[in-house]
Amino acid sequence: MGRRNKIYEGKAKILYEGPRAGTLVQYFKDDATASNAQKKATLDGKGVLNNRISELIMVRLGEIGIPTHFIRRLNMREQLVRQVRIIPLEVICRNVAAGTMSRRLGIKEGEKLPRPIVEFCLKRDGLDDPLIAEEHIHAFGWASQAEVDEIIGMTLRINDYLQGLFTGVGIRLVDFKIEFGRLPVDDGHQVVLADEISPDSCRLWDRETDRKLDKDRFRQDLGDVAEAYTEVARRLGVLKENKHPNLAVIANNDEG
Ligand code: CDP
Repeated sequence: MGRRNKIYEGKAKILYEGPRAGTLVQYFKDDATASNAQKKATLDGKGVLNNRISELIMVRLGEIGIPTHFIRRLNMREQLVRQVRIIPLEVICRNVAAGTMSRRLGIKEGEKLPRPIVEFCLKRDGLDDPLIAEEHIHAFGWASQAEVDEIIGMTLRINDYLQGLFTGVGIRLVDFKIEFGRLPVDDGHQVVLADEISPDSCRLWDRETDRKLDKDRFRQDLGDVAEAYTEVARRLGVLKENKHPNLAVIANNDEG
């Protein structure tokens, strides 16, 4: 790993040059940040759990026809992905009010929304990823009309699928954030799902108790963060038992 070229280091992941042209290695760190990196911690095992959870979700989404950057998991903390040019948008899909939507619109956290709502934020840490309208996206050329239409369509399909996946394991998908990239193809490019989908980027509540099983445990100092991520992994079947952070229990004999 030491000899590889680092392409980019973010808050929770590192991207390295991949083994072949057009590929990257996505490494999941244990670092957690919130409030735009003002709050930081290291959570033992988080990277391993997010790697596995995100792998499962990307594979399943691929199976229902969502194009993704994911190629395969390499080891405990790394996955091989296709190199894409990230579209500078954070796409948020919400089913239940929480977080900034509750604060902005005065809707009580936990209130079910009349229908799934897709929002766009500009991916720019220096500005705290501000909420933007489609008008801004078109006017500033961040994405074309066709790309935005495709992104909204894919986001709603992803939401439908993930709601079902999580409902099946007793979890309410409150909201999530995804990112898309442009993958070069013969005659131009294709918009594909990139980045990760994990408890770092979703709000996941236990359906019976409303217990938070996501990054809000870290943001709100609720404790037991890694235990909650372990619980999500266990329910999704990527851990054999709910013992954290005994990573020996990772299912399917990890090679890494
Ligand atoms: O999380 P926060 O209250 O700051 O913002 P939000 O707009 O309520 O977040 C909606 C969803 O997107 C939550 O599941 C967040 O975890 C996720 N999100 C993210 O993964 N990365 C961001 N930079 C912002 C939001």
